[in-house]
Amino acid sequence: MNTSSCIGLSTMKPCRRILVSCKNSSLFGFPFLNSNYLITDNLSKLQPNLNDLPDSSNRVVGFTRTNTPNWRAFCLSGSDSGQSRFFSGCPLHTSNDRLVSNKVNVASDVRNHSTSIESQVNQNSFEKIYVRGDLHVKPLLIETIEEAHKVLENVEKDKDNEARVEVNDSLGVNIDNLNQRSDGSMVFRSTLKREVSEVEKEAWKLLRGAVVNYCGLPVGTVAAADPADKLPLNYDQVFIRDFVPSALAFLLNGEGEIVKNFLLHTLQLQSWEKTVDCHSPGQGLMPASFKVKAVPLEGRNGEFEDVLDPDFGESAIGRVAPVDSGLWWIILLRAYGKITGDYSLQERVDVQTGIRWILNLCLTDGFDMFPTLLVTDGSCMIDRRMGIHGHPLEIQSLFYSALRCSREMLTVNDSTKKLVAAINNRLSALSFHIREYYWVDMKKINEIYRYKTEEYSTEAINKFNIYPEQIPSWLVDWIPENGGYFIGNLQPAHMDFRFFTLGNLWAIISSLGTPTQNEGVLSLIEDKWDDLVSDMPLKICYPALECEEWRVITGSDPKNTPWSYHNAGSWPTLLWQFTLACMKMGKPELASRALASAEKRLLVDQWPEYYDTRHGRFIGKQSRLYQTWTIAGYLTSKMLLENPEMASMLFWNEDYEILENCVCGLNKNGRRTKCARVASRSPSVSEPLLPQIK
Ligand code: GLC
Repeated sequence: MNTSSCIGLSTMKPCRRILVSCKNSSLFGFPFLNSNYLITDNLSKLQPNLNDLPDSSNRVVGFTRTNTPNWRAFCLSGSDSGQSRFFSGCPLHTSNDRLVSNKVNVASDVRNHSTSIESQVNQNSFEKIYVRGDLHVKPLLIETIEEAHKVLENVEKDKDNEARVEVNDSLGVNIDNLNQRSDGSMVFRSTLKREVSEVEKEAWKLLRGAVVNYCGLPVGTVAAADPADKLPLNYDQVFIRDFVPSALAFLLNGEGEIVKNFLLHTLQLQSWEKTVDCHSPGQGLMPASFKVKAVPLEGRNGEFEDVLDPDFGESAIGRVAPVDSGLWWIILLRAYGKITGDYSLQERVDVQTGIRWILNLCLTDGFDMFPTLLVTDGSCMIDRRMGIHGHPLEIQSLFYSALRCSREMLTVNDSTKKLVAAINNRLSALSFHIREYYWVDMKKINEIYRYKTEEYSTEAINKFNIYPEQIPSWLVDWIPENGGYFIGNLQPAHMDFRFFTLGNLWAIISSLGTPTQNEGVLSLIEDKWDDLVSDMPLKICYPALECEEWRVITGSDPKNTPWSYHNAGSWPTLLWQFTLACMKMGKPELASRALASAEKRLLVDQWPEYYDTRHGRFIGKQSRLYQTWTIAGYLTSKMLLENPEMASMLFWNEDYEILENCVCGLNKNGRRTKCARVASRSPSVSEPLLPQIK
């Protein structure tokens, strides 16, 4: 039976759970899929030993080694009713997995074998999606063992020439120094050691203790590792968004391997089939989290295999798809390249495909009228009902950042040029939309206060029909004379005026806001320090929903009571993002101030996940302790502050090409006209925010 017919069969099984596994064994010093393959020096001779597959009713429909490098075998259940599992070979790993070659040959590209799928997909999508069946797999990459050996030799040589960072629990963190590689690219290498404080030492120890291994290789960090917690729920999993500060801490410390492994393993998970009550979410979705499980091997006493078990929201409380996961993945992929100088990872065929899949999901045409992404409540860091469905700022800022990253990373060729054009258009439209409609300051609120309503026509000033009565009483007194912020959400007849920290910070970091708006946000944070930073940085949002609003909007959520958790609780993990934003705006002293107040308490309080009360004075009611992204966020902030050069690689300045590429085509009266944001090309010219009408 050929591959495509196997795929055909698989589509008949609606409810299957996919796990990725490897067995803990090794051959020639490499962990390898236990006796399923006869290894020779030539990949073409590799044969799976079918009898040794864990479930003999499974059929191997393909096998491959990815550049991790991995061998993996695809097994489909022989029975329509049964659950099938995906088995992945243990990575053929060496101590250095930079065994990446751009020279990849597609050995048995399942997508090329798939049936006439291309004709079934949305013709409006930006490229043809190869597989829309149940088995979603990445292109199968193959390298010869000889090639691998050659690369390894070079890597070893390279290693000898590099001053590799040594970090251990007790000594110190090494920061500084950009070294130039033989190919001219810059790579962060540390040579300086400095004494680290007790708090940092402890933080490093805990961060290392939170590392999760898969097949003997580090692939992520658990969300929380409190030894006293007997009911960890899913906090013992690796969350995509939570891992980002851990990844940055490792990267800034010269340790790229764990990040690379994480990126590649989550990439594998992206392509797997996932179902929620017999419905499959879109291809390209990244899981919210994954867990490494040790599963007993059938028929092999005492033997276990490592299994990767992703959660795409099907187990998560509220069953929400994690829209931000794919965006964070793209952001981290770029950061990895920038900090390590290893751009070969983002150039890989499978990684490029991963980027495109995420973008296809985000850019697919729907019913939407706005360039912002439409999502359900709780689809990001705030993953419970908090009234953020629609077009929440957090998602828009991350979306914008991910688009900017993708624009840098995507290989432009005939098959991607439409996608690249779509990215450029979206960047332009999105920045216009957010700058124009989400921004509020004293002047804008006064405008809204005097809005006329029920304006039917394209010439409406009050385009979203906002009733001035919506301006909350707290805001009237709260909005400072100077500065402003981006509101939390915008819908027809609804502006969510709450201040959401993550979205505002990423608007600064990615230059989604204009330079003046970005300055305005920071100036507002400074002005409202007691409300937003206070005793423990930083409030996730401000202010809290109370009384009836809390009852209706959160659904009476006892975890999200006023000034707790997502409902205006204080989250120390936001510190690293605040640090980045401050550094970008040339105000590192603000970040240092926040860091200093956090530093006083985090270690003593055992690194809580969040704090409660108006000023963040109490450890959160249901807060986990030893929360990894609290620890990693602290370390990352520290290292960013010490290394402005590195920090500058993680943020973006205004891109005048984006402004030039204006697609809004609107004049003041809403009529189509030629937009001239181009006029603002030079930074010295007036604010390049809005289309200036010719
Ligand atoms: C909570 C947070 C979410 C985080 C997860 C793991 O669910 O809301 O943002 O990713 O915990 O820490």
